Amino acid sequence: MMHLISPSLLSADFGNLQHDIEMTNSSEADWFHLDIMDGVFVPNISFGFPIIKYIKKHATKPLDVHLMIVDPDRYIDDFQKVGADILTVHYEACNHLHRTIQNIKSKGMKAGVSLNPHTPVHLIKDIIADVDLVLIMSVNPGFGGQKFIPNTIDKIKELKELIIKKKSNALIEVDGGVDNTNAKTLIDAGCDVLVAGSYIFKSENQPDTIKGLKNLS
Ligand code: DX5
Ligand code: ZN
Repeated sequence: MMHLISPSLLSADFGNLQHDIEMTNSSEADWFHLDIMDGVFVPNISFGFPIIKYIKKHATKPLDVHLMIVDPDRYIDDFQKVGADILTVHYEACNHLHRTIQNIKSKGMKAGVSLNPHTPVHLIKDIIADVDLVLIMSVNPGFGGQKFIPNTIDKIKELKELIIKKKSNALIEVDGGVDNTNAKTLIDAGCDVLVAGSYIFKSENQPDTIKGLKNLS
């Protein structure tokens, strides 16, 4: 499978959001990555339902929603209603992860689990066959524009082995500090989906930057 690109709108221009949505629609990007932060699980607050609804109205590609919130079960219905296609929760935020994953899937969404940089891959061995996606954080979640943590590469390789061993269909997504200096190494290690925020939206030619991530040489 050709790898996918999921631009993170956290670094978009919210004063001109429609422009950035349309740019993403007409680019080689595959998904829209939406970062939802509650100020409790992470030390930052991003955006909520009215904005997601607006993005859904204009987006022509799936919404890849990354929840950085405590107790995500309370809001699974709401995220389905505003149009999430893929809903990813954090391993560290769920006491009953198996139930949470089943709830997400029962609402017709793809279910993902995300691991913080300090959380080892082996902790998800008993849930890997149930999830559609594993999001490996390559920075500590909460902010765009942080520096990529190199240990991520080993984590991806370990996760890929686990996926094969457990005959899981889960995709591997990487989020944080992704740019042209590490994208190829990530894909070679087994990553399927690259999230990039500041690298895309702070660049001069955004469609070209996306094209570069999609067509790695
Ligand atoms: C960080 C978010 C990321 C963020 C990535 O907590 O999960 O999706 O937008 O931004 P960059 O690509 O700038 O590191
Ligand atoms: Zn994210």
